[in-house]
Amino acid sequence: MRESGKDSKVGREFIFPKGFLWASASSAFQVEGGCTSHDFYDWAVQGRIKDGTNPVDAVHFWKYYRQDIALMKKLSHSAARIGLEWARIEPEAGSFDEKALAHYRAILLEMKKSGIRPMVSIHHFSNPMWFVRTGGWAGSDAVRRFAFYTERVVKALGDLVHVWITINEPAVYAVAAYLFGEFPPGKKSFRQMFRVQNAMADAHVAAYGIIHGIHGQKKWAAPLVGVAKHLRTFDPFNEKNPLDRFGAGLADRYFNNYFLERVMRNKSTLDIFGINYYSGDLVKFPLAMKGREALPKNKLGWDIYPEGYYRVLMRYWNLYGLPIYVTENGTCDDHDELRPRYILDHVAAMHRAVSDGAHVAGYYHWSTMDNFELVDGLMSRFGLIHVDHGHPEKKRTIKKSGELYREISKANGITQKIVKKYVPDWSPGV
Ligand code: BGC
Repeated sequence: MRESGKDSKVGREFIFPKGFLWASASSAFQVEGGCTSHDFYDWAVQGRIKDGTNPVDAVHFWKYYRQDIALMKKLSHSAARIGLEWARIEPEAGSFDEKALAHYRAILLEMKKSGIRPMVSIHHFSNPMWFVRTGGWAGSDAVRRFAFYTERVVKALGDLVHVWITINEPAVYAVAAYLFGEFPPGKKSFRQMFRVQNAMADAHVAAYGIIHGIHGQKKWAAPLVGVAKHLRTFDPFNEKNPLDRFGAGLADRYFNNYFLERVMRNKSTLDIFGINYYSGDLVKFPLAMKGREALPKNKLGWDIYPEGYYRVLMRYWNLYGLPIYVTENGTCDDHDELRPRYILDHVAAMHRAVSDGAHVAGYYHWSTMDNFELVDGLMSRFGLIHVDHGHPEKKRTIKKSGELYREISKANGITQKIVKKYVPDWSPGV
């Protein structure tokens, strides 16, 4: 690969291999608006969202998708990740809404027309209420029901999909929904948390076979299938304390690797390796998560730790050797003060991993637009595009970080011109 680097860190450029995908990501319930039959709607109605907002009135991508895809194009995306809402597609068990499927086709066709390759998540946290009533992901029928839904959506949409993500962040979902009680159904049980991770691993394996089976039968282009796995670095708070080392090992084992190990019993069920990276933790025994004092924090208090991104990319490249798609990376920053620098830091760290041999095929920044954040609601912003949530048409405006990201996409990396224009005092930490 071409690296137009000079000796000193200052003045270096970070250019990626030809064909690298510059993209952004979102999920269904966080941007679509308008759906009342999933569990996050119900959770919001119960008053469980920090700022009291409800995803039913968030962003309205469902309605404004043409304008939003035009904005993706304006940001010079070559790809984008969107999600499907199971509750819209199968509003009652076993009964599918053809209109909803046709609407997703219209969205995917619009992306195709705009030259944006779709990555589509089949499950990204939200669930139909009927599924919740049957026990949800802790119920005995979860895998079969998810497989049934997957079969229907792949038959309806597969010809338009380049990359399928079966399940987003299984460990985050299992921990937040079944251990910490922060997502619906708000349970607090270790046993159920493991049961849910197992079910999601088995659901992925089943979905993988279904997706390839359908694409093959229909003679559609072979898809790439993977999961979007949230991965963090866990280091001992005190390196010399064996208990902290033990705690960090536990967190790593059960949060990072438990799901993957179960999936990897069937190695052939991942064509690509999707990584969502946000931050890393220092673990104080038994499982207290601490930040690194020296590092800057985002609005949610998360450490901004690009070194951790490099470590995660290298670790999982060395472990599995699968092409990596960075399915999410981004930060919560309401006024877009940190994000430009955050993007430069993380793109530079990713460039270091690529230079060290990791095969990273694309980067999907989280998120395309400000959206409905899981615990906070509309009050916390991750977007490259600002959404005026109070405006009757939810007006969109590209942020400075969005402009910066467009330039990176056009240049296929970071050039000095970009640095000078957007963050003149930036120097790479890698
Ligand atoms: C999730 C997104 C979420 C983001 C920021 C990721 O873990 O996949 O849905 O909005 O983190 O919290």
